[in-house]
Amino acid sequence: MTMLVLGIETTCDETAASLVRDGRDILSNVIASSADIHEKYGGVFPELACRRHIDAIIPVIEEAIAQVDRSEIDLIAVAKGPGLIGALLIGMQAAKGLSLAWNRPLIGVNHVEAHLYGSMMGAPEPLLFPALGIVLSGGHTFLVKILDVGRYELLGTTVDDAIGEAFDKVGTLLGLSYPGGPRVEQLAKEGDPRRFSFKAGRVKKSPLDFSFSGLKTGVYYAIRDREIGHQEKADAAASFQETAFADIVSKAVLAVSTFPCRSIYLGGGVCSNRRLRNLFAETFGSLPVFWPPQNLSLDNAAMIAGLGFHKFLKNPAGDPLDLDVKTRAILGV
Ligand code: KG4
Ligand code: ZN
Repeated sequence: MTMLVLGIETTCDETAASLVRDGRDILSNVIASSADIHEKYGGVFPELACRRHIDAIIPVIEEAIAQVDRSEIDLIAVAKGPGLIGALLIGMQAAKGLSLAWNRPLIGVNHVEAHLYGSMMGAPEPLLFPALGIVLSGGHTFLVKILDVGRYELLGTTVDDAIGEAFDKVGTLLGLSYPGGPRVEQLAKEGDPRRFSFKAGRVKKSPLDFSFSGLKTGVYYAIRDREIGHQEKADAAASFQETAFADIVSKAVLAVSTFPCRSIYLGGGVCSNRRLRNLFAETFGSLPVFWPPQNLSLDNAAMIAGLGFHKFLKNPAGDPLDLDVKTRAILGV
């Protein structure tokens, strides 16, 4: 069976639509971001994101499906959460409307799980399970054991800030614009990672859980109440980044020692960081490590359409039209 899936993604500040065949083959991947309007607020402004979604959703879908005849589309997959309530509702209503109008099944997909699927989508087949899955995004930080696409066991998560959120907050502390992640990485290239000795948090009795809020506060105390020059900012960025990534790498090393792990699949916006990729390459040597391809790293709808295909194979009736959005949802729910 071959299936053409339309994916729709509106969990945060990107309005995205994509056509994917059989969970892997990307025909279109259209993304309209409203990051420009959030920059001056230092974070995503939910109401403004929603207004942009409303304006963008139809043109983005039209562009994504322009090259095919509508009748060729077999399934509509939509990110049902987690995310901003208003933003989620816009994607969900669009998906339901199309499902009704085109008489095609609807399937809801978890956005965080889809981030993880992004690296599987680009990786060679067969996928190597059991694997360690690592989600490093603006809203989520997870370590999971992947038994199969759609079957996970949670190994660890953050008890406070997500890793991308910590990057963004440190970016703000260093006077960088939003989103801070890529800018902290740029600045860190000029800095000395040994200049400040920051510490990542340890969670009592949960060695695979993360805590980044103390690290962020460490940066705050190191630079507060005084004028700091460019070099010192770069040193703070480098020291922060190195501490955060050393923590993630050491927990990943511990996680792979707990089961016969055959590979690592990573997902989420922080995966675009080159320093992180180099650290994993240095650390894991012969264990295959798969990163999301360039176009699947930040929020996108191709990962939604791709994972939607697998969800539909397991649930061929699709989801009911009263499917609800979920602002908070962990992997696979
Ligand atoms: O996965 P994503 O697009 O959104 C969520 O679903 O949360 O990730 C966005 C996050 C932001 O926090 C952003 O600052 C971070 O990924 N990010 C980075 C880099 N590029 C994006 N963090 C560190 N280094 C980067 N190069
Ligand atoms: Zn995301």
